[in-house]
Amino acid sequence: MAETREQWHSRTAFIMAAVGSAVGLGNVWRFPYVAYSSGGGAFLIPYFVALFTAGIPMLILEMGLGQRMQKGIPLAFGSVRKPLQWFGWWAAGLSAGIVIYYSTILAWAWVYLWHSFKLSWGDQPQTFFIENVLHRSSGPGEIGWPVLSLVIGMALTWLTIYLILRKGVRSVSKVVMITVPLPMLLLAVLLVRGLTLDGAMDGIRYYLTPDFSKLWDLSIWLKAYGQIFFSLSLASGVMIGYGSYLGKKAEITNSAFITGLANCGTSFFAGFVVFSMLGYLAKIQGLPISEVAEGGSGLAFVTFPTAISQLPALNVLFGAIFFITLLTLGIDSAFALQEAFTTGFNDKWRIPAEKLARYFVLIAFPISLIFVTRGGFYWFDIVDKWICDFGLVISGLIQCIAVGYLYRVGEFRDYLNSQSEVRLGRWWIWALRYVTPVILLIILTGNIRTEITERYSDYPRWATLIGGWGVLLFWLVLGYVLYKRPAKANRT
Ligand code: PHE
Repeated sequence: MAETREQWHSRTAFIMAAVGSAVGLGNVWRFPYVAYSSGGGAFLIPYFVALFTAGIPMLILEMGLGQRMQKGIPLAFGSVRKPLQWFGWWAAGLSAGIVIYYSTILAWAWVYLWHSFKLSWGDQPQTFFIENVLHRSSGPGEIGWPVLSLVIGMALTWLTIYLILRKGVRSVSKVVMITVPLPMLLLAVLLVRGLTLDGAMDGIRYYLTPDFSKLWDLSIWLKAYGQIFFSLSLASGVMIGYGSYLGKKAEITNSAFITGLANCGTSFFAGFVVFSMLGYLAKIQGLPISEVAEGGSGLAFVTFPTAISQLPALNVLFGAIFFITLLTLGIDSAFALQEAFTTGFNDKWRIPAEKLARYFVLIAFPISLIFVTRGGFYWFDIVDKWICDFGLVISGLIQCIAVGYLYRVGEFRDYLNSQSEVRLGRWWIWALRYVTPVILLIILTGNIRTEITERYSDYPRWATLIGGWGVLLFWLVLGYVLYKRPAKANRT
């Protein structure tokens, strides 16, 4: 007896979940940094061009494919062409890979939330992060034991994910009503604090002063596309999985526009929070902003703690707010990734949500402990680099080609138009067939060329072979096994 597929409570729940997956740490620690180092305000031009020529078209493709096939990425692509199911499992495997290392950042954030009550990083936040939190060893070859406090942070992260996913889409529908608006509200609180600090305006000026000469630089454009791709959680199967829980009559195009714009709006907004704080920090330290501005983990776990300690009042409160923001920003990206992977197992073998959530967490948690060992930081960095710079780019490329050339894309467009009040023009097909694949191909060749000519972060070759190419290959093999395993016909 075939049951109907689980569905979102409402269209709002779906959009919230999609926005929740898109809005993550990337909006806070990647976008502002990329923007300021790539032409400031002028970066908004390539960024929005990338949003409309690749980001939103791909979002429509992914949400639409999931909704139409009523399946997660493996079987959705399997319905386009049978062997593409193999690709689908591989891409879903990348999601599993991402959530396993993404959880590390959440583990750090839990530990920092704890420390924020005593502002334990003192006046040496850099040393504190590396020595007291990470206990970082000298390189990827020196792994050592997992660090206890981070193991606890990791356990909390996986427990949260399990509790949220245990009841499938039903619980996700409720949870995202909190985990999506909350960090936005907290960012607004931090913004008000930031803007009223001395030096804030210098920071904002630094963030947004346009340098139009940068627009002639191809690499800036590629950065914009890369950032859009990562930020909208594309090519990982997340949006396909989420789309698959929509009803048969659901509207796609407009939802994709709302999701894309909400995500990019949040990034732009987060830039004000980050740069007002950086402006303040530069002012009180008497340094130029370029010396305090950085992105990535350094921004969240070194620069921000420094600024928080130096606030005139309520430091503990703002410290806690900041780390709760990080946690709530990250958690919905994390469970979306896990869901993108596990939904394939429900589609194919009818395994119930609770069981999937439990098994996944029980396997993923021990694996994720590698990233909280003393050498874990390096492995985190390698896996992140390879999955994002090679895995997701290849996956996006295959998706565009599969749908643009192997699927009746004109008829797919008519289908989407019949469901929506917003009509998709031919531009959508051009974006999928030409613009996006060409850009992804340029990005991919560039990344491969850099990898051949210069060793990433001077890591030994064996480490990038295992943590980089090895992980991608692992999923290729496991993906094949999952593809070949016969499906179960009925739900039990
Ligand atoms: N979009 C998320 C962010 O900006 C990251 C992410 C990538 C989440 C891919 C899911 C899939 O942080």
